[in-house]
Order: sequence, then structure tokens, then C-alpha cells
Amino acid sequence: MWNNGNVKENDKFIINGLAGQKILKGSIAVNGAKNEALKILASTILFRDGFELTNVPEIEDVNRSLELLDRLGIKTEWVSSGQYRLTVPQLTNFTLPGEIAKKLRASLVFAGPLLARLGRVVFPYPGGCLIGKRPIDLFLDGFVKMGARVEETNDTFELFSLTESGQPSKLRGAEIFFKNQSVTATETFILAGVLAEGRTILKNCALEPEVASLGEWLNQGGARISGLGTSTIVIEGGELLTGAGQSHRIMPDRIEAGSFILLGALAAAELMVTGCRPDHLEAFLALLAETGVAMEVGPDWIKVINRPGQTFTATDIKTHEYPGFPTDLQAPFAVFLTQAVGQSRLFETIFEGRLNYLEGLKFMGAKINILDVHRAIIDEPTPLSGREIESPDLRAGLAYVLAATVASGRSIVHNVKYIDRGYEDVSQRLASLGLDIKRVSVD
Ligand code: EPZ
Repeated sequence: MWNNGNVKENDKFIINGLAGQKILKGSIAVNGAKNEALKILASTILFRDGFELTNVPEIEDVNRSLELLDRLGIKTEWVSSGQYRLTVPQLTNFTLPGEIAKKLRASLVFAGPLLARLGRVVFPYPGGCLIGKRPIDLFLDGFVKMGARVEETNDTFELFSLTESGQPSKLRGAEIFFKNQSVTATETFILAGVLAEGRTILKNCALEPEVASLGEWLNQGGARISGLGTSTIVIEGGELLTGAGQSHRIMPDRIEAGSFILLGALAAAELMVTGCRPDHLEAFLALLAETGVAMEVGPDWIKVINRPGQTFTATDIKTHEYPGFPTDLQAPFAVFLTQAVGQSRLFETIFEGRLNYLEGLKFMGAKINILDVHRAIIDEPTPLSGREIESPDLRAGLAYVLAATVASGRSIVHNVKYIDRGYEDVSQRLASLGLDIKRVSVD
């Protein structure tokens, strides 16, 4: 049931680590992908009626997105676990309330369809993980190219697409070249193009699978989008979409799948990761196989097997836009590399604030040399010791859970609220594999 944000601010995990023993075992199912669900929810704004969603992860970013839709007047009904029914009335509200929109970067994706449908949108400079400066110039420049006017006051943006007499006017189809590949910018202008006048051509688009899945879902509702899965996407503008009787199943979360596979390599005799898409993880799996991790790969499952005395060979990570190595798995993979034999080099190419968590791993005993905001060196396997550590963001938070699992002794991982943004019920799911992990509320 999506809560109204009554997550406890100061919950923490207490984990008694395995001191490098590989004794977890069992099977863990992968949930729906956060980074698809948030954009499919934003797409509701383009529909005249509504639709059903299944396999939606019950996570905080989804709760915030449902709150945004609710505040816009869209009815959001929880049907059963992971299943929602969305009903769209006559929309008039064009303001994304700052106190909610500031909590997630993906609130930006709501601005495109709102502006396209109502000719106006008000939104705050978006929040989300502290992983870098996260500019929004791609969004503002693109909206201006589509004929919108932009006003900014105190970090709040108001965009208008109005006729001379002040009536809402359609956005104009435009050709937009993204100077940086951005998943949310690509998605925002696919959504905006659906209701624009004429043709929108997007170039240097992000290739993450959630982008194509969003476009296919919109086409199912009556949009005319071509080039999905390539770097040039063309959208023919048209009318509101219809979802009558339609249901969309959110794809498996590749980042959750990768994180659990690493947990298996670090701490399990054998771990079965089910309900995943190995074809969404090719760069990650190829790199992991190079280190010597033994895996069996099925159509929608991956089994990690640790033989007695198993060791891993160091390797280099260079994050890259999809289908390259995913930046969201950089932190969990770095924890794994602290247990690999040899020297690993880490190169985070996408975000400039995404290595801060390495200080926490050094505090636990890892041998890491941080060269600059993009590069670090991880040397030889070192035993980690349990510590009290603060998750700086969503993905680093999960990485700390992995580190605490490998460590000897007790760890306290603070800021579980960040982990809740992207992972459902981590403590319960990992406890079921045999990990001694408890969630403690300190309120
Ligand atoms: C999406 O971010 C994901 N977020 C990220 O996941 C993920 O790490 C990333 O894709 C790569 O897969 C969502 O889908 C909500 P950006 P994206 O801020 O690509 C530059 C997580 O943990 N840029 O657009 O939308 C920027 O500097 C999150 O789930 C501009 O130059 O991220 C960066 O180099 C973290 N101007 C690149 O684009 C802009 O206006 C991507 O950054 C916007 C971005």
C-alpha cells in the first residue's frame, strides 16, 4: 500500500557480518525497475482515461511519484502488491508541488507531459541523489526549442506554451540534439513530443532499456514513435492517449539484480537470483565473469556458485552509458573489488560526485586510493571490519549493506531512507537468505 510518506526518517540497519564466510543461500526475486516505473507513472498525464500497472516496486520514489499524480488530480488506486489502477480526470493543475518534487530527480520527467498537455508547468529545481551537480540545461533548452517560454524565480521554474491571447498552445515539434546522453531528458522529450504539433526528432538519445519500454508503452496507447532502441528517436505529435483496458508490467530492475548477484559472489555458497533480465546486464556480467565468479545464466534467472577456496581476480571498471557498465552498479561492484586479488581501477565517467562512499569503505579497512572525483584504485583483498556508516545516497547505501555483510563484527548503516527510495524490504529479503540484519527505528 503506498504510504503518504510516513517513512521513519532515522531508521538504520544493524548487520552482523559474515567475516568473509560464504554461507548465505537460497533464492531472491528481483522487483520491478524503479527507473522504468517512475516514467511510466509520469506518462499517465498523456492519457485521457487511465490504465493498470503491475510489478511496480513498493519503494519511496514510487510513493512520491504517486503523490505527485494525486496532487495533479489523477486517481491512484492500490489494487494489490505491485498493482495500481490510474484514472485520469479533466486535468487543470499544472504545478508540481516543491515539497514532493524536490525529493526525486525523476520529477523532471513529469514537467514535459504537463507542459505539453496544459501549456503550462511549474516545478522546482529537482532533488534526488547527491551524486553530482545534476544540471537541467538539456530540459530548459529543449522546451525553448519546442516553443515554450521559461521564467525562473528562486529555484522554481515556470514554463509557458501560450498563444498571444494567453490561451494554452501546443508545443512545436523540434529537432533536439542532446549534448550529453541523459535518460530522463530523452524520456521527457519523448513524452512532450507525443502531444506536440508536428514532428520531434531527438538525437544522441539514451539507450537504457527503460527508454524503449516507455516508448513502446506510449505507442500501445496511440502514440507514433519510431527509432526506439536507437540514438535517434522520432515522435509524430498527435492527441491524448488511451489506456482503456491496457495494463503494463514494469520490467525487472537490472540494478537490483546486479546488486544481488554481487551479494551472492561475496557471501553465498549458492544464490539464485530470479525474475531478472540477464540481457539487460551484459556489460556487468561480462566483467564479473572476468574476475572468476562462477554463474549459470538462464532466460530469467542467474545462479551464483562459490566453490570452496574460490578467489576473485581484480579488474577495471569504467562506467558508461548503456549498454556499457552501469554507473548505478559502480558502488556495489567496488565493494566486491575490495575482496579481489590484485589492483582494480575505478573510473566513474558519468557523475562527478559518485565516489564519496569510498571513504566509508576505507573506514571499514579497504585499501583504496581516491585519485580524483572520477578515479580510484582498489588494492588487494582486505578483511573489512564492521563500522557505523552513513549512506550518502541510494546506490552507495546498498553498497554499504554488501560491505557490512562481508565484514567481521557489527555494522550500523544509517540513512536507510535513501535505500528505501530504490529497494523494497532489503532487510527482510536478505534475512531470508540467512543474513543477520535488522531494521531499527530510532524515532
Ligand atoms: C538516469 O539518470 C537514472 N535516473 C540514474 O539513476 C542513472 O544513473 C542514469 O540514468 C544512468 O543509467 C533516473 O532514471 C531517474 P542525468 P539520467 O542527471 O541519465 C548530464 C539511480 O540511482 N546532464 O540526466 O537521467 C549530466 O551532467 C539514478 O537510480 C546535462 O548535462 O541522469 C550527466 O553527465 C542515479 N544537462 C548526464 O547528463 C542536463 O540538463 C546524465 O545525467 C541533464 C543532464
